[in-house]
Amino acid sequence: MHKLILGLALSLAFTGAAVADEITAIYDKSCKICHQAGVAGAPKTGDAAQWAPRLEKGMDALVMSVQNGMGVMTAKGMCFDCSADDYKALIKYMAEAK
Ligand code: HEC
Repeated sequence: MHKLILGLALSLAFTGAAVADEITAIYDKSCKICHQAGVAGAPKTGDAAQWAPRLEKGMDALVMSVQNGMGVMTAKGMCFDCSADDYKALIKYMAEAK
């Protein structure tokens, strides 16, 4: 029984890691260009204080901003095959303090 639970926990941990890798890969080739250094007022990745007022708008509003573009940020934020769920994961990734 213990082995079964352990196996289950491990496989869950691995799928979690795979999803996280996919998100960082998307981040690296799209959002990072502007959000890593905070280009043109972009909220910086890992700076929770800069993200806090954005997060207050609610996740759906933020996803809309990316899809439609905002200021310097081009529509879709340079990720042309991202789904709404991808954007949510990307936003969470950027908003988490590192
Ligand atoms: C060309 C540069 C650029 C790229 C690429 C970019 N952003 Fe942005 N982003 C910005 C800037 C600049 C702002 C601030 C806009 C403002 O406040 O006027 C911003 C703001 C945001 C916001 C806050 C929106 C709001 O309503 O407050 C979110 C969320 C966001 N970006 C997510 C992303 C995601 C996810 C990606 C990658 C898929 C991405 N951005 C790619 C420049 C960029």
